[in-house]
Amino acid sequence: MTEVKKLFVKTYGCQMNVYDSERMAEALGAKGYVTTDVVEEADMVLLNTCHIREKASEKLYSDLGRLRGLKAAKPGLKVGVAGCVAQAEGAEILRRSPVVDLVVGPQAYHRLPAMVEAGGRMVDTDFPVEDKFGQLPERKSLRGPTAFLTVQEGCDKFCAFCVVPYTRGSEVSRPVARLLDEARGLVAQGVREITLLGQNVNAYHGEGPGGVWGLARLLRELATIDGLARLRYTTSHPNDMEDDLIAAHGDLPQLMPYLHLPVQSGSDRILKSMNRKHTAEQYLRLIDRIRAARPDILLSSDFIVGFPGETDADHQATLDLIRAVGFGAAFSFKYSARPGTPAAEKAPVAADIADARLQELQTLITAQQRAAQDAMVGREVQVLYEKPGRRDGQMVGKSDHQHAVHVLHPEGQVGQLMRVRITGSVTNSLAGELLSTTL
Ligand code: 5AD
Ligand code: SF4
Repeated sequence: MTEVKKLFVKTYGCQMNVYDSERMAEALGAKGYVTTDVVEEADMVLLNTCHIREKASEKLYSDLGRLRGLKAAKPGLKVGVAGCVAQAEGAEILRRSPVVDLVVGPQAYHRLPAMVEAGGRMVDTDFPVEDKFGQLPERKSLRGPTAFLTVQEGCDKFCAFCVVPYTRGSEVSRPVARLLDEARGLVAQGVREITLLGQNVNAYHGEGPGGVWGLARLLRELATIDGLARLRYTTSHPNDMEDDLIAAHGDLPQLMPYLHLPVQSGSDRILKSMNRKHTAEQYLRLIDRIRAARPDILLSSDFIVGFPGETDADHQATLDLIRAVGFGAAFSFKYSARPGTPAAEKAPVAADIADARLQELQTLITAQQRAAQDAMVGREVQVLYEKPGRRDGQMVGKSDHQHAVHVLHPEGQVGQLMRVRITGSVTNSLAGELLSTTL
């Protein structure tokens, strides 16, 4: 019998890392590791890192500092660093932090079990040609009715501020047949909502029956899987919103009315210097077309404030764009210079100015987000229960528009999809009453 060993995984950053962490835990599961939430119990600690902004990368080193004591008390403890900091810094991590045994980049994590078995300190940040997902065991360790499915990785866009094209490499799409198998497997285990993931997910172009398939065709095929009630996808680039994908938002009931479509800035001058390859006006026209296909769609976006060269007028243009769209949600970040990216060569905006702009932008976005949420009151929505609520007899789930909804439903079960009328709106969630018990 293989000895049971405990694995503690910490995930930083994006949803792709959440997916990758699950797959790494499964791969190590085949080598006798079971996961634990208690770091002190662990025989192996795996930190799946993010490199997108400086703050995210620094978290790795503060966590490694904290692991020093644990490793001193338990010399057999293995520490692995995975993800985008691993890719960007490689062997430097071993030099900088003696507690680390393994460094594995996002394209090499299928080789993690072999590295663990081999022992010793090592680094693998290759970009192998084989499909790493094809080398991993089938998915099984699922929690709940929603799941991520990575369909595409990497990015060829080279926005001037972004490390992704360097850490995740160029765009690679997984073949259709593999994705359909994985999706069917997830549904067979009770998953009712799948979010397709990719750094540039709408640039998906995978080998499928009869040739190369785009994202719209993949979504249409996934929608034929019995029991799969909901589909979402993230993150998209405006320039890859093809007509057939926009049309799918109008005619695929499984495709949820929520779209994350980062624009980053509303100033054409800044968009150009960010290498975004579209103007504010083109983005607004695109939103019009998406809304024509699906009028109730909620839009979300990412914004960067304080990009090098950003003036007050540029900032105002961003606020104007936000007012013109009316977002249901948005993420906004202060620009962080990333080594190796073209924008890092340019003089930054003063920190106090960037802070003030971020504050102003976030105030506007928060108000829009709240307005979109409040507008749901009185409406009928569908809620997919994800877990019991904090109060007795309460269930919590997400609406089609991705709002968190609390419903009083003592017999409610995780995984049920219910019709609910929204009765109230508070910070970050809605309250609803059950309309039916059959759906
Ligand atoms: N500084 C600040 N924000 C960044 N993002 C990407 N790179 C940077 C950077 N260097 C933001 C973008 C992107 C999101 C995932 O992170 O808004 O859409
Ligand atoms: Fe980064 Fe997204 Fe631009 Fe690609 S499209 S470089 S992932 S911000």
